[in-house]
Amino acid sequence: MPNRPYIVGNWKMNGMRAALSEARAIDRGAARHPGVQVAIAPPDTLISLMAEAVETISLGGQDCHEAGSGAFTGDVSAAMLADVGASFVIVGHSERRAGHAETDAIVRAKAEAATAAGLGVIVCVGETEAQRDAGNAEQVVTMQLEGSLPDEAGTPGQVTVAYEPVWAIGTGRVPSLDDVSAMHRAIRAKLEARYGAPSAGVRILYGGSVNAGNAAELLHCDEVGGALVGGASLTAESFLTIVSAAAPETD
Ligand code: 13P
Repeated sequence: MPNRPYIVGNWKMNGMRAALSEARAIDRGAARHPGVQVAIAPPDTLISLMAEAVETISLGGQDCHEAGSGAFTGDVSAAMLADVGASFVIVGHSERRAGHAETDAIVRAKAEAATAAGLGVIVCVGETEAQRDAGNAEQVVTMQLEGSLPDEAGTPGQVTVAYEPVWAIGTGRVPSLDDVSAMHRAIRAKLEARYGAPSAGVRILYGGSVNAGNAAELLHCDEVGGALVGGASLTAESFLTIVSAAAPETD
């Protein structure tokens, strides 16, 4: 159901098998909020174990290769992620763009590979602090979308955009609520221009220092359809507070 708020935990390179108990606790808590779609993207090493441990939440990868298989040491394909229980994959995270030299074209190829494998895909975009200070944030994000989005919006809910200002990731700093709304409106306009009517099935998540204290106000900004949460997704206690903040009053 693409109009449910979508709260996704990106565990990044965190989590040993002992963390499965945390995932179970998140899963139990998520079951109390059917009005919220809750997901975790653990490290690949935990996906299949977590798939056996949870019932309510969905699981995803944090990256995939654009090819289906082959001589790509250290990479995994979208089909491999699906095979072990993932239903979506994050592509184009700024830590991949910066640390692994991923261009918009590579991100788009990964997004296409993900949808071709039947996965949902979360395409990440976001400006650096220098780009925002120069007044170029919307232009940068619009260009990233232009280059990174897959050609088709797929089925409703299959494609998601995550707006993550690079300077807000892991820093405890977040944009003003007005800036979040303005950027999300600009992304929505870009999606409408790109996909037409199917753009209604694309949710836009905010990511970057979302925590239990600021989630409610960020989730109420214009066109914010959920959150991509890093550090605060690692424990059930903090992640479930964010899930509760997203829950409709009927939950
Ligand atoms: P933090 O929530 O730790 O700032 O990380 C955000 C992020 O990068 C999620 O993908």
